[in-house]
Amino acid sequence: MSEKLVAVLPGDGIGQEVTEEAVAVLEVAAKKAGKAIRFERAPVGGAAYDLTGSPLPPETLALARRADAVLLGAVGGPKWEPLDFSVRPERAILGLRKELGLYANLRPAKVFPALADASTLKREVIDGVDMIVVRELVGGIYFGQPRGIEQMPDGTERGVNTEVYTTPEIERILKVGFDLARSRRKRLCSVDKANVLESSELWRNTAIRMSRDYPDVQLTHMYVDNAAMQLIRNPKEFDVLVTSNIFGDILSDEASMLTGSLGMLPSASLGGRVALYEPIHGTAPDIAGQDKANPLATILSAAMLARLSFGWEDVASSIEGAVQRVLDEGYRTADIYRPVPGVTLKQVGCKAMGRAVREAI
Ligand code: IPM
Ligand code: MG
Repeated sequence: MSEKLVAVLPGDGIGQEVTEEAVAVLEVAAKKAGKAIRFERAPVGGAAYDLTGSPLPPETLALARRADAVLLGAVGGPKWEPLDFSVRPERAILGLRKELGLYANLRPAKVFPALADASTLKREVIDGVDMIVVRELVGGIYFGQPRGIEQMPDGTERGVNTEVYTTPEIERILKVGFDLARSRRKRLCSVDKANVLESSELWRNTAIRMSRDYPDVQLTHMYVDNAAMQLIRNPKEFDVLVTSNIFGDILSDEASMLTGSLGMLPSASLGGRVALYEPIHGTAPDIAGQDKANPLATILSAAMLARLSFGWEDVASSIEGAVQRVLDEGYRTADIYRPVPGVTLKQVGCKAMGRAVREAI
């Protein structure tokens, strides 16, 4: 059987700690299932900038291109905020997405029953939430031209960004949404701002046209402001939510908080030959290096990697099952530590959480 190569790009802050745990978990789960896997590490983000002057050095991109999948931690931090836009750590993520053609970002938000009380929303609102945000990732206002800050004759400045979508770009991301909905509860909510934006009008018309090929999927449309509201009013309404790059950026953070912790949510970015998996949280500079981070989002990202890139369903479900068990047994990192009636909680750090998951496998 051919050995799989995973490019590991830990990045900055807690990215370093959480990816190490995820790698160790994936290694154990793969071994147990008799699968061959190999990891190669490369710097990305601020760490890469410090070493090479570039947040996405050519060697890192080359590793990602020749790997079978990419596992990324997180990038950024106050240390690099003063840097010019072109070399900010965030450029590395945007560059990887663009260079690898990762146009579809999948961000599941599923409530673990053991953590329902860790949400800021009432248990009855979020119990049973199981949705997935499909975010367009390489188009829209993040990449549209023209962009920039220009000097005006009167001495003032003008900042410009452009929201732009073509039919093929809309079709390919909507197809991901429709297909995913078909494999789930068959409900697709397309989120736009078609009452104001032409790019959204095109988006909505395209969705309506495509829905003829998906008679089994119930397509609904929602304006983004209303979607932001419905997400906290009645999140169980949602199955698959598909939307543009910037709306997806915002709504996926909101959806993540339904589950109680940003520290729990994995993501997958697909569309090219090689896919990228990362937790949706950031680098948490305030707790970095203190063994306090929650590695579960990255561990769950590694499970998505095994399933979607390698077709290793057994490895993926053994990891997901192990996460479920350690939560049921009461293991909690600080971010998800909330008393649960009838359960004795064990507060642990990043390393001990990783170890507990490995033992549960
Ligand atoms: C995300 C992040 C990124 C984004 C940043 C770090 C560029 O917020 O993955 O959601 O805006 O896409
Ligand atoms: Mg974001």
